[in-house]
Formats: sequence, structure tokens, C-alpha cells
Amino acid sequence: MKLPLLEGLLKYNDEENLLLSMPGNKGGIGFTRDEIGLEFVNRMGFLDITEVDPLDNLHYPEGIIKEAQELLAKTYKAKKAYFLVNGSSSGNLAAMFSAFDEGDEVLVERNCHKSIYNGLIMRKLKVKYIEPIIDDELGLFLPPNKENIYKALENCSKPKGIIITYPNYFGITYDIEEIICNLKGIGLKVIIDCAHGAHFGINKRLPKSLASLGDYVVLSAHKTLPALTQGAYLLVNEENDIIDFYIKSFTTTSPSYLIMASLDYARYYLDTYGKDDYDKLINESEKWKKKINKLGKVYILSESDLDKHNDRIEGYKIDPSRYIVILPKGYNGHKFLDYLRDNKIQAEMSFSRGVVLILSPFNTEEDFKIIYETILNLDMRNMSREIEIKYSRNIPIKKFEPYETFKLKSRWCEIEKCEGLVAKESIIPYPPGIPLVCPGEIISKDVIAIVRDYIINKKSIIGVNNNKILILDIN
Ligand SMILES: Cc1ncc(COP(=O)(O)O)c(C=O)c1O
Repeated sequence: MKLPLLEGLLKYNDEENLLLSMPGNKGGIGFTRDEIGLEFVNRMGFLDITEVDPLDNLHYPEGIIKEAQELLAKTYKAKKAYFLVNGSSSGNLAAMFSAFDEGDEVLVERNCHKSIYNGLIMRKLKVKYIEPIIDDELGLFLPPNKENIYKALENCSKPKGIIITYPNYFGITYDIEEIICNLKGIGLKVIIDCAHGAHFGINKRLPKSLASLGDYVVLSAHKTLPALTQGAYLLVNEENDIIDFYIKSFTTTSPSYLIMASLDYARYYLDTYGKDDYDKLINESEKWKKKINKLGKVYILSESDLDKHNDRIEGYKIDPSRYIVILPKGYNGHKFLDYLRDNKIQAEMSFSRGVVLILSPFNTEEDFKIIYETILNLDMRNMSREIEIKYSRNIPIKKFEPYETFKLKSRWCEIEKCEGLVAKESIIPYPPGIPLVCPGEIISKDVIAIVRDYIINKKSIIGVNNNKILILDIN
């Protein structure tokens, strides 16, 4: 008898890795903060119950789910709040369907999540991309700044709304409060994908929360808070009843009570312990950051480093509950992730020059010591890069809207022969899960070089199969 998945999961758990990745509950540790959380995690297997009286119904909440969602709205100071059991992905889709109609023109960040690209196709939206900002020196993507947002807006003929990611996957934010207010002032609908920022605002040392500012704000509680994977929140600040229909449409009719209960716990955690726990975490993370940086092997980024490299742009913040660890020039972030993994540290993601570690209030002094000692023992000679590669700054030329490509004929083509052809599907390196090319765009030489980098480094890249890319067969 074989049980490959369960056995694999148990084996991973037996390794007792230090989880500096999602989920925010850190393998259940986050629920052990107090008695009620401990009871939840200990009785988890017995609490997988369905909609029986008096447990309420997520699709028509009138009892305990309604009460829990009302408390959630209060915590985030939003008009209305919903539990999502299918991640922020379902929240992004529901928000896009509710805010926009077929054919609407929408401003979208180039670096947005796949679920938003899916929404563009499903809702048949016309897309205007906001140019990404790439820090070549560090190999990082930064959130678009004011100039890029307004530049994209000028290229629109009749914009209906904007979808903004806050923060990006690195935990970097740009101060967009005023921009959002201006855009709302000229009638644009604003969706904020705040998947990585469910903890924002709970402590003044964290980036600002935009929870009450966007018309729709999506938060992946499971990424940074003590909630189970898939658990997320959708906050709605505009009067719009059709959102209920779309949330229901993108949600199973058998929502997990475990996920919903964990979402209730995550909100309670923020209310009860959030401010103080994040204070302690930030103190620790700052203290160990200095120690690690003094080792002179890797470098954990600070905001001032971003301003230094991007002298024109100010206003970036880095979530202090994340470490963006940069290797010296010429060294390989993907190899560093493997090194950490070999030493039982699970990083969230790697990129060409480094890794991202998601810290949490559940990290102990001992955890920081482990990170420090692992870096102390790092032999830089094993981290060298095979090739030096830069990300492409330019947005590829769009030949078709993403939804227009959906039903067009396609064929697989060798990567090296794709220059000048039109992509049928997104090409998305994981991590960070940001498309290099979107459906309907022309594949450039730069894109081919980046794809090669991922393949050589044996990192997964969606949209590439046996060194081939799916292109439109339109000639
Ligand atoms: C920016 C962003 N938005 C949305 C999502 C989707 O979130 P979920 O996994 O909760 O569906 C992710 C997931 O990584 C993300 O990084």
C-alpha cells in the first residue's frame, strides 16, 4: 500500500525544519499562543464539522459566522468583511467580478498575482499594465511608484479601475495612500491585493494598513497570521450587494470549519496580542539583523538601501517581519535557499541574488540563533553563480488582450525559436510567481534569457514544458 502524499508530509514534518515560509501559523505553533488556540490545534481532527445547527452557514450567515465576520470588519475598520476559504485568489476574483464589467479598461500592476491575470481573462477586461520597477543591482522587483502609476493612467482611454498589490512578494510597500485617494476621487474603483499584509497596521512599526481605503481589500490571513492555509479575508468598503453573489460563486458550498475557525482565531490574535507580539518580533529581528550583517557574508536589506539604489524614488518600506537576504554580487540566491534547506531552514523564496524569509511573532530567540549560526557556517565558495542575468525592464508588446487569446489556436515551440512570437499562456517563474510574459504578448530575447536562467538553476517555471513554450499559431 502506498500513501505518497501523506507519507511525504509526515516525513517533512519529522525533519523539524524551521519554517520561515508560509503558512503564518508556522506548522501549528501559532495556535499554541494560549489555551483556546492550543485546544483548537489539539482537537483539530475532531472539529472538521459541516453546517449543522447551530454552526451557521457561510453562504447565509446569521449566527456565529456573522458575528465573527462583524468582529473582523471592526478589527480592520472596514465596512464589511468576509471569510474566504479558498485563499486570496478567490477574493481577487470576486472583487474583480464585482467591481468591473466585461470590456472595462483596468490598470494592473505588471507584477500582480496569477489570480488577477485569471480574472482579466474570465471577466474579459482590457488591461493597461503599470510598468514594474526593477532594482538591477539587487535583482528585486519594487512596487510601482507615483510616476509609473500616473504614466499608465495617461495611456488609458476610459479607465474603470486599478488593482494594486500592497506589499509585493518581498514585503516591500510604496506609500500609495494619497494616490489611492486621488484615483478614487476621479471615479476609479480600487482593489488592493494585500495578500502579504494581513498583519499591517497592528503595530505602528509595521507598514500602514490600507484596509479601510480600497473599495475591495484582499488579505491572505494564512500567509502571515495564525490561520490555516487557504484562509483569507475580503474587506469591502463600497456599497455593493453583488459582491455576495461573486463570493458565493467562487466558494465551495462545503466550507471548512477548521479554516473558518482559524480565521476567527487569527483576528482574535491580532486584537489580543498583535501589537505587543509584533513589537517583540521587530525588536528581535532588528537586533539579529545587525548581528547577521556584521558577519559580512550576506546582507539583510534595510529601507535606506532601497533609496540608495533607486535615488529618484523615495517612500519604500520593508515589512520588518521579513528578511530580504542579499548575497554579494556574483553569488546565487537559489543555491543559498538550497543551503538553508539542507540546514533545516525553510525559506519562503529565492531570487537571483538572495532569499526572502518570513519571520513571525512565533519565532523564538533560538530560531534567530539558528539563522545566525547557519549563516556563520556558510561557505561562500558553494554559492557561486553559473550565469549572470538581468530581468527585463520592458513590458513586452501586447498584440492581443489576454482574453482574446483564450480560444485561439496554439502550438508548442522551442524556447530558443520563440523570439518575436506571441505567447498563448503566461510564463511564470516560481517563486516569485510573477509573469514574465502574459497571454497575447510578444516573446523577446530578454525573456528567453530569463527562462534559460530558471531552467539552468532547476527552478520551476510555469508555462515552459520540456524547454518549449505555448505560442499562438496565427501565421
Ligand atoms: C500578491 C498575492 N496575491 C494573491 C495571492 C494568492 O493568495 P492565496 O494563496 O491566498 O490564494 C498570492 C499568493 O502567493 C500573492 O502573492
